[in-house]
Amino acid sequence: MNNFIYENRTKVFFGKGCVKEFLACLTGNYTTVMMAYGQGSVKKNGIYDEILGILMKAGKNVVDFPGIMPNPTYEKVMEGVRLVRNSGTELILAIGGGSVMDCCKAVSLAARYEGDAWENFWERKGIIDFEPVPLGVVVTTGGTGSECNGAAVITNKARKIKTGYDYPACNPLFALMDPAYTFSVPEQQVMSGAFDSLSHIMETYFSEPDSQNVSDEIAEALMRSVIRNIRLARQNPTDYTARSNLLWDSTLSENRLIKLGKKCDFTCHLIAHQIGAYTDCNHGQAVAVLHPVYYRHIYRDGLPKFVRFAENVWMIPREGRTDEEMAEAGIGALADFIRETGLPMTLRELGVKDQREMKLIADSCHYSPGGYRRIMPEEILEIFRECL
Ligand code: NZQ
Ligand code: ZN
Repeated sequence: MNNFIYENRTKVFFGKGCVKEFLACLTGNYTTVMMAYGQGSVKKNGIYDEILGILMKAGKNVVDFPGIMPNPTYEKVMEGVRLVRNSGTELILAIGGGSVMDCCKAVSLAARYEGDAWENFWERKGIIDFEPVPLGVVVTTGGTGSECNGAAVITNKARKIKTGYDYPACNPLFALMDPAYTFSVPEQQVMSGAFDSLSHIMETYFSEPDSQNVSDEIAEALMRSVIRNIRLARQNPTDYTARSNLLWDSTLSENRLIKLGKKCDFTCHLIAHQIGAYTDCNHGQAVAVLHPVYYRHIYRDGLPKFVRFAENVWMIPREGRTDEEMAEAGIGALADFIRETGLPMTLRELGVKDQREMKLIADSCHYSPGGYRRIMPEEILEIFRECL
């Protein structure tokens, strides 16, 4: 194993009824609590009323921060910052998926910072030498793992940049995760979130070191779990066991655990973020389109790992196949699985318009140093043409 430091301060409360059981106690030290949420789902499915009821009964001053959009923008973050400052919010309660949680982490950081937060924490990695506003989260859809990390992926629309860094100081203090809260998520979003988890695991697994290490072994078990439970959840959307496994798989994929001692690639993520900056597409769908094509480009640079992926994740028997044939069979199984889940397979489905836009996106992508090989903008463009 390579050297590492492990820290994760988020306390997780997982399971049916956890919000009712623990929320009042967790908010005990705070008088003014901000309820932050998305574009209406929590009002339709009753989650908003349940939480408001608990906070009112506990005698809190409740501040409302509605309308956080998928792919949250820096403008929305600054709206939240003004609200926190003007209302004297002592605790931010993010109720939603990755977008709401990320936006709230960014608000909690920027509300306690006097300088240009975009420039100093998103444009480049900064140092947080102050305490952000305390943040708790209630997860309503899984996939990003945002509940247990410090990353806040934010879009700067004016500059066409979507980016984020993992700041441990931005980890939520607590995460309430009731799998039953995710039952109302539309199937397309369940699939896209679950594929996002699978993508986080693959982006970590396909990087050095490749010699025997426990992080890769956990990653393989997690990939098998995501694949199995996606299938079960598709057959029966109210299968609590499948939905709870998917929700916890997603936390384990992004709480830094499987990254310990690994370089981590995340090339597909950096590209997907820039596709999002130009098209506002769904994040899980973007990584689904990119993965098989990207892997066909790089598998020869990490061949033994791609063979292991085919054998240990997709259970493909050798049957006289060469290493290259095994690797290609593993990537083929991944592509077939994406098709099976109904996720998109092309850039057009994500809203990418034409070759000109593809070139602008390719040129805007950041370089990820953890991959098996450096991918230059010309090759990203080639990947895009193959995905169109
Ligand atoms: O806005 P509402 O009306 O709430 O609807 C949301 C939204 O339309 C809906 N939804 C959420 N919970 C629901 C529900 N609908 C019905 N019932 C419920 N219980 O789902 C839609 C998508 O929500 P969103 O939060 O956007 O999805 P996701 O969790 O996939 O988050 C995506 C964002 O997270 C970023 C992505 O880039 C993207 O901006 N990521 C954050 C990461 C992190 N912080 O570690 C890592 C990821 O790689 C990713 O980049
Ligand atoms: Zn992701």
